[in-house]
Amino acid sequence: MNTPKSKQSIETAKVIIGGQTLSCPIITGIENEKALDISELRSKTGFVTYDEGYSNTASCLSGITYIDGENGILRYRGIPIEELAQKRTFVEVAHLLIFGHLPSESERSDFSKLLTSNCMIHDNMVKLFDSLPSSSHPMATLSAMVVTLSAYYPELANPEMDMGQMNKIIAELLAKIRTLAAYSYKKSIGEPIIYPKRKYKYVENFLHMMFSTPVDEYPIDQEVVDALEKILILHADHEQNCSTSTVRLVGSSQANLFASISAGICALWGPLHGGANQAVIEMLESIVREGGDATKVIEKAKDKSSSFRLMGFGHRIYKNFDPRANIIKEICDKLLAKLGINDPCLEVAKQIEEAALKDDYFIQRKLYPNVDFYSGIILRAIGIPTNMFTVIFAMGRLPGWIAHWKEQCESPKKKIGRPRQIYVGAPLTHI
Ligand code: CMC
Repeated sequence: MNTPKSKQSIETAKVIIGGQTLSCPIITGIENEKALDISELRSKTGFVTYDEGYSNTASCLSGITYIDGENGILRYRGIPIEELAQKRTFVEVAHLLIFGHLPSESERSDFSKLLTSNCMIHDNMVKLFDSLPSSSHPMATLSAMVVTLSAYYPELANPEMDMGQMNKIIAELLAKIRTLAAYSYKKSIGEPIIYPKRKYKYVENFLHMMFSTPVDEYPIDQEVVDALEKILILHADHEQNCSTSTVRLVGSSQANLFASISAGICALWGPLHGGANQAVIEMLESIVREGGDATKVIEKAKDKSSSFRLMGFGHRIYKNFDPRANIIKEICDKLLAKLGINDPCLEVAKQIEEAALKDDYFIQRKLYPNVDFYSGIILRAIGIPTNMFTVIFAMGRLPGWIAHWKEQCESPKKKIGRPRQIYVGAPLTHI
């Protein structure tokens, strides 16, 4: 694997602080994005930088995903998301993100075999599901089960373990996450778990474990498989978002893969991040219940005396449009038409989008529908319950988390993540 590099640059920027001048190298990314290297700032001047929410801080050099938020561009390993969503499967995209290239025919077949042969989980772990209350949110169950997997891989404690062994464990995690996700759901509805089947591919197997019962086998519909496949691809990576940065930060202490990913799942759960897909549907459902008037919600979202936000709108990076949202909207229209579903939530969502895109509040703040705005309507049409939406996001994001964890492990510059703070508490106080 190539270590990510920036373009060689001779440019520098001068930072003048308290009569001192510091020369900071300028780092230039492959698409000409520029950063000021301030790594010597504190040692040379005593100052640190302050950047709440890290809006202006690059925490690493990475060769995995490129985003241009102004122009709505998203590429995995250089390949536009539109092409990947149209032409590749989720398993191929996972291979691309984790190993740096799309698999050849033989690599694809070997990788698929590895995923199929490792989709079972240890029977002792299956019993753990019984010890959780059925009211447990599937994200709580999933994060707990993923960190529990560490217990089944004692070799992770071996600092001499090579990347070949690690790659096998990575494939096993990718294989098992859909089993854990589906079991979380089955347990939450009190149904017996359904074992995976060798005959099914990645997404088909997940649907089978979710919806088959001991008496009926779920009829696989290719249209549904394609829609879910695309949703997973669109979520597969998004560079240094909250959960991925969490995975990297936890991993930077050399915590094992499962512990780092479990932390990422917890970070994803929040409604400002992956939890937004559940929040969007809950918001749309409540509008439909109350008669379908979208204007009230728009007004509430603009009201600064309320903490309410229009869920599924806005993004830290995208300030024009979210390319994932455009693709998702198309999938949504196509799938609902194919399945003959007339979902009132879709109507309300379209009304909200139309009204918000004309509204000065949203225009001035560059707030557009994000990936979560229409994804919930697709998941609902497939029959996935609302509390599983963020689990689907987690399954999709797993290859990205793994790729970032691996990139960091393989980097020669291993540095524990440790931001600074500005202390604003009590001054020296004696007891
Ligand atoms: N509804 C109403 N106002 C909003 C919204 C919204 N959804 N999003 C941002 N704003 C306003 C915000 O109040 C602020 O206004 P002002 O300048 O008057 O104080 C301004 O826009 C800038 O907001 P911000 O919170 O500084 O922006 P951010 O970049 O820190 O937050 C965000 C990004 C995604 C957390 C935010 O837009 C949001 O809360 N959206 C709703 C939740 C959501 O849909 N999250 C999913 C994100 S996409 C999936 C993922 O990658 O996680």
